[in-house]
Amino acid sequence: MTTLGLSVHDLLTTTRSVRRRLDFDRPVDPALLEECLEYAVQAPTGSNRQGWRFIVVTDSEKRMALADLYRRGWERYMTLAASAGAIAEGAAPDRAAQQMRVMESAAYLAENMHRVPAMVIPCIEGRADHRPMGAASMMASIVPSAWSFMLGARERGLGTCWTSIHLMFEKEAAELLGIPYDEYSQVALITVGHTLGDDFRPARRDGGAAAITSWNGWD
Ligand SMILES: Cc1cc2nc3c(=O)[nH]c(=O)nc-3n(C[C@H](O)[C@H](O)[C@H](O)COP(=O)(O)O)c2cc1C
Repeated sequence: MTTLGLSVHDLLTTTRSVRRRLDFDRPVDPALLEECLEYAVQAPTGSNRQGWRFIVVTDSEKRMALADLYRRGWERYMTLAASAGAIAEGAAPDRAAQQMRVMESAAYLAENMHRVPAMVIPCIEGRADHRPMGAASMMASIVPSAWSFMLGARERGLGTCWTSIHLMFEKEAAELLGIPYDEYSQVALITVGHTLGDDFRPARRDGGAAAITSWNGWD
């Protein structure tokens, strides 16, 4: 196993959404993905249900089909009020500039989605739409696991990006991959590829943790 040997601090502060710095021409060894998935199954789940499933997609036709769904979703997303302009409007200039960079980077990923070497779709047993009261615990039973996968990937020189846009067409993706839609919810499509360089930096977060933390009650 070849790893970058990052400190815990560096791993936790430099695992970024990688879109522009992916090596589309270098396949990802399935063994690397399997190592990362071993981290994923160490995560907590509500009542220890372990209702998780990870669909790893490397087949080029299936990646192509998922990329088509993603692009259809991206076009729809871009027409929504929540797209770049609306988010950036009224924001501080440096925040607006950061948001524009994210949108440009996301557009680049959408254009190149079919070239991403591996896609990983975390799924969780159940459907939030069937049990709204349990939605939080359902999601919390897959998100820590998927994030562990992404941290493991970073340590192996792989870049990931959590994406959700294909979920606009979740049913079509389920049909494509044979996922039992009524029984399992897809929660994301994580793109995976080797990174071009490995010098990623901590992100800027306005005010840091202090700005969003309150002690002993909301203030
Ligand atoms: C719930 C969720 C959904 C996201 N969906 C997308 C997506 O569909 N496409 C995309 O390119 N990035 C997506 N992202 C990545 C965010 O844009 C990214 O985390 C954010 O820009 C901050 O960048 P960083 O992760 O490098 O700090 C998503 C992230 C989360 C947590």
